[in-house]
Amino acid sequence: MAAHQVEMLVSCGAYGQLLLRALAAQGWRAGAPRFAEGGLADAAWPWPGARPADWPRSWTPLCAIRLHQGPPPGPDGLRALRTTAEARRTNRAPYRPGAVEPSLLDGLLEQGGTGLAHGADVRVRHLTSGADRAAVADFVARHAGRDFSHRAAWRETHSYLRFSEAEVAARGDGFTLSQLFGPLSWPQERARRIAFAPLTMRLLRHVGYPGLLARQLAHLVRPTPALTVMSFAGPRPSRADAVKGGARLADYWLCATEVGLALHPVSAVLQHEDPRTALEDRLRIPGRAFFLSRLGHPATEFPRSPRRPADAPLRTI
Ligand SMILES: Cc1cc2nc3c(=O)[nH]c(=O)nc-3n(C[C@H](O)[C@H](O)[C@H](O)COP(=O)(O)O)c2cc1C
Repeated sequence: MAAHQVEMLVSCGAYGQLLLRALAAQGWRAGAPRFAEGGLADAAWPWPGARPADWPRSWTPLCAIRLHQGPPPGPDGLRALRTTAEARRTNRAPYRPGAVEPSLLDGLLEQGGTGLAHGADVRVRHLTSGADRAAVADFVARHAGRDFSHRAAWRETHSYLRFSEAEVAARGDGFTLSQLFGPLSWPQERARRIAFAPLTMRLLRHVGYPGLLARQLAHLVRPTPALTVMSFAGPRPSRADAVKGGARLADYWLCATEVGLALHPVSAVLQHEDPRTALEDRLRIPGRAFFLSRLGHPATEFPRSPRRPADAPLRTI
């Protein structure tokens, strides 16, 4: 499976896990998920009611979960989950320089694996030694420019950039420049807006601009006290593996948020197979790495990314 497909399924799994946890906090019990490896065939559909043939044509069946209403629990669980989910965000600013407490890191490794994360075969490693962190920073400096210099990849990334609060409100997704770089002055904002346009990027790649951006990212990675690597046990994850991996990631990120830690994924450098396998070898990671992130105590507040209304992606069929 191509890396961008894996990343898409991981994102779906993360969303699904958050949804199941919110439903569980309101008394809904989830059955075991049924995954559609290669599509849920209509004939094999186990439940009455709408069948895959009745679904919107643009949908690709991924997984189905049956929910039962149980006794409603008290409001505390949902309140706590909402507080953590709202506090969770990608923080791309520098982190506090001191080491992250080992007890906090150990706590992040002890996840129960409920809901969609049940049975997830995911390895989580924390890189805290100077040598490992320097190896990742060197890797980022060498390879992170690839996305900026790849025309189609950059055009796709650029399509998610939003340039005003009005655009953010209208689209309800993507990221603003201040969410990528922290608060920016007007001239800084204008300069980046021009430099990042796909046409400018095509010209600037001939003068090494993607390499400069990669080195800037590496500069941020280098002093980060810890890095998280998540990997699938085997080299060829199924759709179920990828979705469960995403669910595990959602649990991990919420748990990190609860203990005051921030993440900033730099997983884009895992998109290309050759550099990814080289990094797996260097860090002795068995299986396939799918998530690489900075981890630390935030030194500053970071702007929240645009969010859609909670019920926007839900459809009744
Ligand atoms: C699996 C996965 C990999 C990601 N990789 C990157 C990455 O390499 N670089 C990046 O800037 N954002 C990456 N992101 C996106 C951001 O972390 C973030 O989720 C997005 O910008 C929305 O912001 P929020 O986390 O504050 O809600 C990744 C997200 C996921 C789920």
